[in-house]
This record gives sequence, structure tokens and C-alpha cells, in this order.
Amino acid sequence: MKIIVANWKMNPTHLVEAKALFNAVKKISSKKTEVIVCPPFLFLPVFPKIANIKLGGQNCFWENSGAYTGEISPLQLKNAGCEYVILGHSERRRHLSETDGVINKKVKAGLEAGLKVVLCVGEEERVGEFDLEARIVGGQLEGALDGVKKTQMRNVVIAYEPVWAIGTGVSDTPNQTLQAAIFIRKKIGEMFGRNIGQEQKVLYGGSVNSKNGKPFLQEEGIDGVLVGGASLNAGEFLKIIDLTRLPTGRMPAIN
Ligand code: PGA
Repeated sequence: MKIIVANWKMNPTHLVEAKALFNAVKKISSKKTEVIVCPPFLFLPVFPKIANIKLGGQNCFWENSGAYTGEISPLQLKNAGCEYVILGHSERRRHLSETDGVINKKVKAGLEAGLKVVLCVGEEERVGEFDLEARIVGGQLEGALDGVKKTQMRNVVIAYEPVWAIGTGVSDTPNQTLQAAIFIRKKIGEMFGRNIGQEQKVLYGGSVNSKNGKPFLQEEGIDGVLVGGASLNAGEFLKIIDLTRLPTGRMPAIN
């Protein structure tokens, strides 16, 4: 089953607009797709719990409660109806100086609280030397997943999001994303065992829209997409979900 994550980021600015967007998106009919909407925290409790849309937070802290002014805990997200949390997004790495060490604490806390984690990784620039990019992504995986138990890995989805593709209108190519997905599965295989690596879910994120999404969603080796800007337009987002109705190819082996 394909996974489509809507990352609304810090949008919209008013509850009325948020409700309208959610109500439009909930008209999806596809049963072949797991749709996860990640709105700003404020809107989470007002969205109804419905079967065809799961909710996710865009971040969380690494403790469940306490004197941490301004933070949101994984347990609070869980209790507000979230099944998922996005962690390690490049915008938090960049603007909030989140390191792999900080992200690691959050990943472990999220999993312990019973959330599924969408862990974002990706290189800042495409230098065209796959080894170099792989080393960056490999290091992010090692750092963020240090100490995570093998049994918890079934609750981790990796989103490969090359930073240069986020919000720029220039997406990666499906083929290069596939290479990255294969590399990520290999790396997870080295860290947690081959079977876990082979089954690792890997999404692509970065300027996905209804026009360029098709080859990503048709590729068996890419488990879905994480959509930012285009998820704020319900019509556009529903069209992306519709692309998951297309038949896919075969899952590539990791060696
Ligand atoms: P974008 O954002 O689709 O607007 O590029 C993706 C993301 O930041 O996750």
C-alpha cells in the first residue's frame, strides 16, 4: 500500500481555512493508499477521527511531560489522535539547528510513546557523486536511528527528501530517488538486518505535485510521497492520491 503524507507546515493561518482543507481532503475514496495529514498542532484536536485519514504531528519533543516551555510531547500527540510524527525535517535541521543527536532522542521518544515515525533524511546539495550523497544520508540514518530496537523499525518510515528539491519546484528524478531508496534499504539492512532493510518503507519528498508525481508513485521501490506545498490545495492533493491507483512494477532487491 502506498503512503501519502501531507505536510502542511505552518499553514493555513486560520482554523476556518484548516477545516475547509481537511473537509475537502477527506473525500478521498482510495483504499489502496494510506493518507496521513500533518497539520499544525493547534488544528489536531478539532479534526474528526475518520477511517480514511490518519493524523500526524510535524515534530515532537523527547520527553512526555515536564517543564519544557513551548514544546509538544509525543504522548500529547498520541492522545490527540496522531498515529504518526514527522521528525528530522530539513526545515527543522536548518532553522532550529536540530542535529542528528537531537533527532535521535525524538525518534526514540516518539516510538516509545507508540507513534510511527516518518524520519526525513537528504543531502543539502546534489553534487552528482552518489558516494558523497550516500555518505550524508547514511550518516543521518546512523545518527537518528542509533539505539532504536529492531522490533521498532516496523514503525519507522524513511522519507528521502533532498533539500535542494524542497519547495523549489524542481523534484528529483524517479530513477535517482530509486537509487537512494535502494541505498537506504541497504543501510538499514546493515544496521538492523537484511530482512528489515528489504522491508523498509521509503518515501520521496521534494516538490511533488499531480504532474510529476506519477513516475514516483508507479515505482514499486518507492513506497509513497511526502507532499508539502501541493498538499495545501485539496484538488491537487486528491489528484496525487488518485495517481496511486496506477499499477506498479516489481520491488527491486537490495543486492
Ligand atoms: P514541498 O515540501 O512538497 O513543498 O517541496 C516537501 C517537504 O518539505 O516535505
